[in-house]
Amino acid sequence: MKVFQHVSDIGDLKLALEEALSIKKDRYQYQGLGKNKTAMLIFFNNSLRTRLSTQKAAMNLGMNVIVLDVNQGAWKLETERGVIMDGDKSEHLLEAIPVMGCYCDLIGVRSFARFENRQDDYEEKILNQFIKYSGKPVFFMESATVHPLQAFADLITIEEYKRSARPKVVLSWAPHPKALPQAVPNSFAEWMNAADVDFVVTHPEGYELDPKFVGDAKVEYDQMKAFEGADFIYAKNWSCPGVTRPEDYGKVLSKDMSWTVDSRHMAVTNNAFFMHCLPVRRNMIVTDDVIESPTSIVIPEAANREISAQVVLKRMLESL
Ligand code: CP
Repeated sequence: MKVFQHVSDIGDLKLALEEALSIKKDRYQYQGLGKNKTAMLIFFNNSLRTRLSTQKAAMNLGMNVIVLDVNQGAWKLETERGVIMDGDKSEHLLEAIPVMGCYCDLIGVRSFARFENRQDDYEEKILNQFIKYSGKPVFFMESATVHPLQAFADLITIEEYKRSARPKVVLSWAPHPKALPQAVPNSFAEWMNAADVDFVVTHPEGYELDPKFVGDAKVEYDQMKAFEGADFIYAKNWSCPGVTRPEDYGKVLSKDMSWTVDSRHMAVTNNAFFMHCLPVRRNMIVTDDVIESPTSIVIPEAANREISAQVVLKRMLESL
């Protein structure tokens, strides 16, 4: 695997899940694979889970790990070609990327949507430069539009907790005070569409996800109706994807607190498990009682980030 961005990059999902569960049983079984290999993790944005779980996954495989927080200690980077660099940016990404590639065997990059220009974000302008100029396999640790390590961990978690062969999984928009990217819901939708689940998306009007991710998934604007009989509730906020009105891209169109997942919502489900990628704003996205309930699986979900990262790094090492 040379790039990990989309669900198609992982190949057969059933095989990927089998591999994940086998690694979970013995996460040190491939410790020789990463000997004398280096993973470089580059963060343009903050992280807790992605940073720690990916480092742990690399260490489980016997790799060395270098972590770079671009905004803390590195030269400030220019990303646009053609700019006269007479401002505060000392280095261009076009030199920085191949230099980073010199010091490692695999590169993971986190670079969120900037919300300046929908086309730039949806064309993955930053990550594609890493793919083009680093000379190394690149895995996405949340980009402008996708978060595949999260979606893979979510799928592993659903596989572990499902009580029927084809569970009903609901992705629900929930309110948040700030404009958040669409990367998590985009990838979650993409991966659920590829999995053997009955997938429903619910959100207020105006929050329609990009068709290339939501595909033919059922969209239900009535949140309570969407929740009926659900086996898994996946709550997440996202800002306006700008599908119907491009001028609204990245805007907060609603802070309707009736969409906060609470016990009233969970009561109409099939005793559903509650999921969220974390970090989560309590009593905005979900109430204290729901996230603390026995059916909340946000911690095992986060734990599976180590497993999803390990499958991806293992496959990249095997393809070197
Ligand atoms: N879910 C997730 O990616 O968490 P972090 O932003 O803390 O890495």
